[in-house]
Amino acid sequence: MNYIGSKSKLSSWIKEEVKKVVGRDLSQKVFCDMFAGTGIVGRTFKKEVKQIVSNDLEHYSFVLNKNYIENHQEIEDKEKYIKELDDLPLLDNGFVYQNYCMGSGSERQYFSDDNGKKIDTIRTKIKEWKEKNKINSSLYYFLLTSLLESADKVANTASVYGAFLKHIKKSASKELVLQSANFIKSDNTHKVFNMDSNELIKEISGDILYLDPPYNQRQYSANYHILNTITKYDSFTPNGKTGLRQYTRSNYCKKGEVHSSFEDLIKNAKFIYIFLSYNNEGLMSKDDVKTIMSKYGVYSLETKEYKRFKADKTQSRKHKADKTYEYLHILKKTF
Ligand SMILES: C[S@@+](CC[C@H](N)C(=O)[O-])C[C@H]1O[C@@H](n2cnc3c(N)ncnc32)[C@H](O)[C@@H]1O
Repeated sequence: MNYIGSKSKLSSWIKEEVKKVVGRDLSQKVFCDMFAGTGIVGRTFKKEVKQIVSNDLEHYSFVLNKNYIENHQEIEDKEKYIKELDDLPLLDNGFVYQNYCMGSGSERQYFSDDNGKKIDTIRTKIKEWKEKNKINSSLYYFLLTSLLESADKVANTASVYGAFLKHIKKSASKELVLQSANFIKSDNTHKVFNMDSNELIKEISGDILYLDPPYNQRQYSANYHILNTITKYDSFTPNGKTGLRQYTRSNYCKKGEVHSSFEDLIKNAKFIYIFLSYNNEGLMSKDDVKTIMSKYGVYSLETKEYKRFKADKTQSRKHKADKTYEYLHILKKTF
């Protein structure tokens, strides 16, 4: 999934830096991925640690992590279920088609008409199976994640769901094909939460706390609202042109709140090692973070420069390389 702030390209570097500090053998460590998003960081550590604790405020992220992190043993016949869902006759009275596709008269176009109907068809059947106890929780989250990622591939957006495109783009015109969201198997069990980080931190403890909060004012709930709508599959009145649902705003996206929320998190953390990913364009400066973390133990910093490609406003078809710096702030906490 193309996700804002995803660490898919940085996860090996993060793992290496964690090992330099904590030691190469992580087999007895509890690792918490507190702002898990797609779960890529937890997935990177899943086979090496005793337990992953994963958390995110967004429901779609909770679903992804219930599959990618919590699911850890083979699920029998999972491909049979995928095939059955992929072959169902299409419904045209579902929530996504009725509210987010042009053919229903909704005036929104997040998906082609057939793909909107297919999302509803598959989502309705998964819901029915769950309610009738035909599938267990592992299979439920596996199937939901498979739907979420397959739907995301055919979304008619520029990248996020803050707006849809006027015309159906090429990738969105392709038929949604339900593909399996395969997870990494592991011997140990893992835990997944869907809470505000500052609440959860009071309830858990462990060895390694990895923090990757939002850097800026862009709220994930607004940018990925359609994904929450698919995973929750509840009924509400979509708001305005883009069809937003009501959402919780994260304090990490608010200039006036982020510093105190971050300090509160560090203060309440019952973890020895804390790693924070943050880049040079964030609401908190490098020095702000250093000042806060240094109050609670021994602080150090690792930096990685990487090139990000950004649309050049003057020549819309060209792209220019743009350098950013990714920081990994490290704290060995003293209690
Ligand atoms: C930079 S992204 C994390 C990306 C993730 N590491 C990955 O590689 O996919 C930040 C995440 O923080 C989550 N978030 C924002 N505020 C939060 C809060 N108060 N508590 C928990 N999660 C929060 C967002 O939903 C988002 O998924």
